[in-house]
Amino acid sequence: MGSSVNSSSAPHPIRLTVNGDVHDVPAAPDTALLHVLRNDLELNGPKYGCGLGECGACTVLIDGVAARSCVIPVRAAQGRAVTTLEGLGTRQRPGTTQQAFIECQAAQCGYCLNGMIMTVEALLRRNPNPSEQVLRSELHHNLCRCGTHVEIMQAAWRAVQLRTNGAAASGAAVSGLTDESQQ
Ligand code: FES
Ligand code: FES
Repeated sequence: MGSSVNSSSAPHPIRLTVNGDVHDVPAAPDTALLHVLRNDLELNGPKYGCGLGECGACTVLIDGVAARSCVIPVRAAQGRAVTTLEGLGTRQRPGTTQQAFIECQAAQCGYCLNGMIMTVEALLRRNPNPSEQVLRSELHHNLCRCGTHVEIMQAAWRAVQLRTNGAAASGAAVSGLTDESQQ
């Protein structure tokens, strides 16, 4: 009769569903979700910025809602659907929000863009046609150290256009934005 092995010293795997794929990750439960995504699953879309939940660079979607993965323990993501930037589309077939940011060239260094894109994506999933004020408010707590806020707002507005008008949304990306949004 075989003896049962006490494996309590080994980390109990955490089961995560990320971008539709199920992973069993041998991580300590309190490890930040961001570190598991980047280090264990090699999903480098979410970025480490402040590590304090303040800049937004690490944003992912959890059950479709924007969440700051640097301050969320991986155990809190068990049984929930995590989506990273990689889950929105591919280089060949970017998602709508990604496409908008590409069209508007809304990056200088690009470090903040994961958070910008994921935040806009989360908003448009629950409200496909937000006002400019809602867009501005939603992005208010995402920091861009390069100061490319004008291009980011253009891209966010472009994402709204693509969602609401699809292919018919060709043309000026910023039509509909007020002057205030372009400052
Ligand atoms: S790295 Fe998570 S909010 Fe800044
Ligand atoms: S483009 Fe560099 S931090 Fe935003």
